[in-house]
Amino acid sequence: MTTYENILTRVEGRAGVAQLNRPRALNALNRELMTELMTALEAFDADPAVGCMVVAGNDRAFAAGADIKAMAAATPAQMMTGSFIDLWDRLHHISKPVIAAVSGFALGGGCELAMACDMIIASETAQFGQPEINLGVIPGAGGTQRLTLAVGKALAMEMVLNGRTLSAEEALRAGLINRVYPVEVYLEEAIRLANAIAARAPVAVRLAKEAVNASFEMSLRAGLDHERRLFYLLFSTDDQKEGMDAFINKRPAHWRGQ
Ligand code: HXC
Repeated sequence: MTTYENILTRVEGRAGVAQLNRPRALNALNRELMTELMTALEAFDADPAVGCMVVAGNDRAFAAGADIKAMAAATPAQMMTGSFIDLWDRLHHISKPVIAAVSGFALGGGCELAMACDMIIASETAQFGQPEINLGVIPGAGGTQRLTLAVGKALAMEMVLNGRTLSAEEALRAGLINRVYPVEVYLEEAIRLANAIAARAPVAVRLAKEAVNASFEMSLRAGLDHERRLFYLLFSTDDQKEGMDAFINKRPAHWRGQ
């Protein structure tokens, strides 16, 4: 079992939970933390006991951004060769769904990390923002791209150009997040959702995630063709036969993940 210094991991039911754990720095994301987080998520992805994952911070902060102290003196070459932002790309290769459970600050790289997950469950205290403009820079890990796709140009421009933050309620209305819960239960609800997804047909869940995420990368025509091929592919699984037989015979389905 790997031990981590900047995150805490556990499995609850079939949900793999990774909690950022640099509370004194409001979970500012540095290279060590991001490396550990990606390693933990890859381990959950390879673990048959895990069907879905949750990435969380603590109640005060999901993450207040990339670690400003670690990058303040950096040169462009150091930023590039340090490949800190490249670490984010490893999330793209995780095949099981990843849910961000966000409470308190989700700023800069913190907001970008949440948006790179497949769903966002928030507490009523969550605050989403891309305040990089206040530091003389711009978002560097998806804040101009995923945010714009999620909330549209008008709101994204206000957030990126003028540092506007969104409350949990505003983020919900803007379509950035899935659900808002009281701070006492948001994490439990995120884990409950992860377990509900983990109880579904595993190969279908994996391909469903792939198909929805492909919509961001492809033209509509290519996306529709891709979706159709994945749909046909699922007819090669035992779980498709089981799911349809269970429906017809009015009994619960038992998924085998094959
Ligand atoms: C390093 C950070 C930090 C950060 C907070 N801290 N955010 N350290 N990097 N991003 C540290 C503070 O220095 C402080 O440590 C401790 O956490 C508590 O923070 P305070 O500021 O004292 O708390 P508070 O007054 O409650 O204010 C909270 C806050 C503020 C509004 C979230 O900390 C803040 O504005 N943080 C920066 C947010 C930000 O600009 N994020 C974008 C970063 S750039 P000490 O030791 O001083 O007490 C970015 C680019 C991403 O993310 C690019 C792609 C990866």
